[in-house]
Amino acid sequence: MQVIDHLGRSFSSLRVSLLNTCNLSCSYCVSDNEQKKNSTNALSWQNLCSIIEKLEKNLNISTIRLTGGEPTIYKNIIPVIKYLKTNSKAQIKITTNGYLLKNVLENLDNNFPDAINISLDTLQEKTFYSLSKKKNIQKVLDAIEYALDCQIKIKINTVVIKNTNDTEINDLLVWAGKRNIPIRFLELMRMGHFFQNNKFESSFISQQEIISKISNQFNIKELGRLKNATSHDWETQEGYKFGVIANESVPFCNDCNRLRLDSYGNIYGCLSSNLPIDITKIADHFTLKKHLLEALSHKKETKFEGSELSMLKIGG
Ligand code: 5AD
Repeated sequence: MQVIDHLGRSFSSLRVSLLNTCNLSCSYCVSDNEQKKNSTNALSWQNLCSIIEKLEKNLNISTIRLTGGEPTIYKNIIPVIKYLKTNSKAQIKITTNGYLLKNVLENLDNNFPDAINISLDTLQEKTFYSLSKKKNIQKVLDAIEYALDCQIKIKINTVVIKNTNDTEINDLLVWAGKRNIPIRFLELMRMGHFFQNNKFESSFISQQEIISKISNQFNIKELGRLKNATSHDWETQEGYKFGVIANESVPFCNDCNRLRLDSYGNIYGCLSSNLPIDITKIADHFTLKKHLLEALSHKKETKFEGSELSMLKIGG
């Protein structure tokens, strides 16, 4: 039995949400009362890794991306990375806010992830604090420099929010470009409390607006979108590489290859699915494939339609 749907989509990229808490409280992601709930009944790291292995046996997984919440606050992130780097054929990647990343990298004994996406929505301490309720953005900037020193492939993710960091797009592009780091500007997605409380529209900035702000200062060349990629890419004349992840205005569901696994052993076929499929008790390949096909059927045909879950719960 093949895990493939009528659009030819399958699962080759696995995103593992290690936990559903975060050390930042970014306003577009978590509401004030959502933040401090700790996860209970999560699987042990060994059980989580054995589920990952089970999925790898049944799918052609080329990438495993560890997310959260925030993966660097997961107590067992070091053994998980070391285990996967040793036992998995996939590329092991992380998505992180960077705040505690340096410490994780220092403890990996050179078992570095193959690539890291680091969220950086601003370069300004004041904006960092008002967005994330955390002080000391320098910790994130230092972690980026440290990851570069370790020669890890990195990308920067910037969620663009109206009247918050939309005036910083070009500054961030220059900051990343000078360090030879590709940066991706993310359109805000209809998720979590922003979605539920109709705060989405007033904060949304489209790909078109992002490109027009960049074009005011730079000559840019369009590079296009790679198959299965989330970002559409451009390059400035100076060679600064950037992309836009335009989930809202230019959706890319039609070749989505992502499967999500949470820390309880549930899989999800789509970021906008609130329908967890528990695979912890499944031992045989046939039943697992049936569950995978069900998850696949949750993918949208064309467009992300919004989710009450935030990235905190389901991971980026
Ligand atoms: N819309 C767009 N991006 C979001 N992120 C978290 N919530 C949202 C949202 N509602 C971003 C994080 C991180 C990436 C995993 O997703 O800031 O960069």
